[in-house]
Amino acid sequence: MSDGKRAESAGNGAAGPFTGKLAVVTGGGSGMGRELVRQLAAHGCSVAACDWHADTVAAAAAMARADAPPGVRVSGHGCDVSDEAQVLRFRDELLDAHGGDHVDLVFSNAGIGGAASFVKDSRQEWERTFAVDWWGVYYCARAFLPLLIASGDGVLVNTSSVNGFWGSLGPGVPNTAYSTAKFAVRGFSEALIEDLRVNAPQVRVAVVMPGHVGTDILVNTRRAHGLPAPEDLSDAKLAEARAGLTALGLLAKGAADDEVRQRAAELENGFRDKAPVSAAQAATIILEGVRSGAWRILIGEDAKLIDTAVRAKPEATYDYAELFSGITRARAAGTPEQSAP
Ligand SMILES: NC(=O)c1ccc[n+]([C@@H]2O[C@H](COP(=O)([O-])OP(=O)(O)OC[C@H]3O[C@@H](n4cnc5c(N)ncnc54)[C@H](O)[C@@H]3O)[C@@H](O)[C@H]2O)c1
Repeated sequence: MSDGKRAESAGNGAAGPFTGKLAVVTGGGSGMGRELVRQLAAHGCSVAACDWHADTVAAAAAMARADAPPGVRVSGHGCDVSDEAQVLRFRDELLDAHGGDHVDLVFSNAGIGGAASFVKDSRQEWERTFAVDWWGVYYCARAFLPLLIASGDGVLVNTSSVNGFWGSLGPGVPNTAYSTAKFAVRGFSEALIEDLRVNAPQVRVAVVMPGHVGTDILVNTRRAHGLPAPEDLSDAKLAEARAGLTALGLLAKGAADDEVRQRAAELENGFRDKAPVSAAQAATIILEGVRSGAWRILIGEDAKLIDTAVRAKPEATYDYAELFSGITRARAAGTPEQSAP
């Protein structure tokens, strides 16, 4: 295995589990992907990051390089992971930029939301969401598995979601395109465990299931589907936003149009700023999970709580009052929630 231009080791401190390796990160221009790029580089790991916004991933790469030890290479590439030809071009570009014939880690992190309703939302939006969240992960696995095998010690890290084990976001809040894709990502990753053991033991797989993490995913999702900013909502979109915000309990019936716009903006900003876990904390949890050899990496107490609840009461998964009843009682009694469901 030739290392070409790749740094053999990097960092001023002791070598860690990522030192001198090469990681691929998709969706590296924002949120958890950007933090993975920064933290991997700071750990002495070279990174090839992609995003369909070439400017944001270039900025993330520059930021990561500034904090990285000498010898670490960080490259940013424009690539839409839902287009296989672009994924293959990204692979060829990064091999050229970093040298060598393998990659050690692949973080299939890029994702968007959208098309919550199979009934009401457009087929185009539904299939766009599914294409990014499922086909993006699939094309990256196809493109990079041979390079992970060539590493001799490769790790494929696919990002699913709590919507990979819960096909809803609670009462009145469906999430069909996203959940379908994230269940597929989880299923694919779990199915790969035995396949890799038998057929490619040089590689292992981990699946990341975040709960609420503070990122710009709502803003990026809106942009990905070409939807207007809250202040530019048309009458039709204003009515949709009104219905959605009312279902979430964030808007009183009969609220003025300006209040709808204001609540929509607050939702986007609040999702990022008021989350229980930051993007940087999430990236640290992911890297710690990879380092420890975990195959399932849950992020946040909400993810752990939902996971525990649906396993304990599978038939109550969509009967929310029943699903969380033990937890509600435990909260009221002040007893530990972990034992509640
Ligand atoms: N934030 C959360 O609460 C949360 C919860 C569960 C799962 N997730 C998942 O975590 C992952 C990261 O999300 P995030 O919250 O950091 O979001 P984010 O929007 O901050 O970052 C995602 C990045 O992926 C990029 N991207 C989207 N589609 C792409 C495509 N087709 N090709 C290349 N790049 C693309 C975006 O431009 C963005 O830079 C996603 O898979 C998301 O579904 C997030």
